[in-house]
Amino acid sequence: MKTLAIETSCDETAIAILECEGDEKSARFRVLGNALLSQIELHRPYGGVFPTLAKREHLKNLPVMFDEAMREADNHTIDAIAVTAGPGLEPALWTGIEYAKAKSLEFGVPLVAVNHMEGHILAGLVRESGGDSSRRRGVSSALEIADVRMPLLALLISGGHTELVLMREWLKYELVGQTRDDAVGEAFDKVARMLELPYPGGPEISKLAEESREQVGRGEARLPDLGLAEAQPDLRLPRPMINEQSCDFSFAGLKTAVLYFLKDRPELNAEEKKHLAREFEDAVADVLWKKTARALDETGAKTLVIGGGVSANTHIRRVFKENIVSAFPDTSLQIPASSLTTDNAIMIALAGFYRALRHEFVQPLDKLEASGNLSLAHKP
Ligand code: KG4
Ligand code: ZN
Repeated sequence: MKTLAIETSCDETAIAILECEGDEKSARFRVLGNALLSQIELHRPYGGVFPTLAKREHLKNLPVMFDEAMREADNHTIDAIAVTAGPGLEPALWTGIEYAKAKSLEFGVPLVAVNHMEGHILAGLVRESGGDSSRRRGVSSALEIADVRMPLLALLISGGHTELVLMREWLKYELVGQTRDDAVGEAFDKVARMLELPYPGGPEISKLAEESREQVGRGEARLPDLGLAEAQPDLRLPRPMINEQSCDFSFAGLKTAVLYFLKDRPELNAEEKKHLAREFEDAVADVLWKKTARALDETGAKTLVIGGGVSANTHIRRVFKENIVSAFPDTSLQIPASSLTTDNAIMIALAGFYRALRHEFVQPLDKLEASGNLSLAHKP
């Protein structure tokens, strides 16, 4: 089944064409075309994604991405269309949905609606398969999803989400825990703004924090300069809710702690900023790991997958890789390839294929609406 997938939930306009084969237990994919345009540069002056600008850009870029993906795919015929229905910014989601409906009518092929977060989970589960060594925008052309050991726990960390979701049965979700206030990506972006770093803040904080770790590793810097040393636990940034008997998260308090810290020290120099970025990242990674470990204990999950834009974070990836081996040696950790961590249309095609296998087609087309708060899982 050749699936054309469309993603416009935030600030990436992405269209991919995948040839999908197999069944629910073992699926193979060939990436025929993969076009993506990021609007980050345009939104940067606003310090975040500006919805009406995103909508205008998606409208302009969708036909361009379509032509690019089709050209790359040698104008293959299309059998189905998959589109992100939510969650995301509604004006942005609508542009992709309307475009998908028009293409569905034009080609006379069925349409499936995809939950963006399911896409992030599948992006973590897909892996390169042998055979075709070519790549499309850094993504291997030959992919597969097979032999996933259940139950599966997913940690979803993005600009809008922080949640732990359990899959006991393939593509059936239960909510295990979620943030009670800010999403982790949002905390990265807000703290970055406090440090006068450009949007999106995640990669910027990560860069500074890694520099601090290298300096400390080389013995060139000492953390006590900032009063954030391990020797002075009361002066470290808080790890909100870390010892609470629940798998829920909270990041608002951590963000506020950074704000107060900066109020007392308005003249932070570049070196100090690096160390603060590191302490913030350490606090986030500590909380994410501790809550995930609790959820692994509670659920006995055999597979842990991390998905969403924040899963690109080097330190978080490292902490999870190290800890899983020592604390849960029977659980396999799956982390998306870096080219699939942030929003893309390949992940939408993966989810669309499984939904099409289940004949979950949108019928009639008018029924499909954008759903900004679309959720994947509910508490059992
Ligand atoms: O999944 P995504 O691309 O879009 C949403 O669905 O929200 O995630 C975007 C978020 C932003 O908050 C961005 O700052 C964060 O992911 N992010 C990172 C990194 N790369 C992107 N956060 C921490 N470290 C990174 N390397
Ligand atoms: Zn996303």
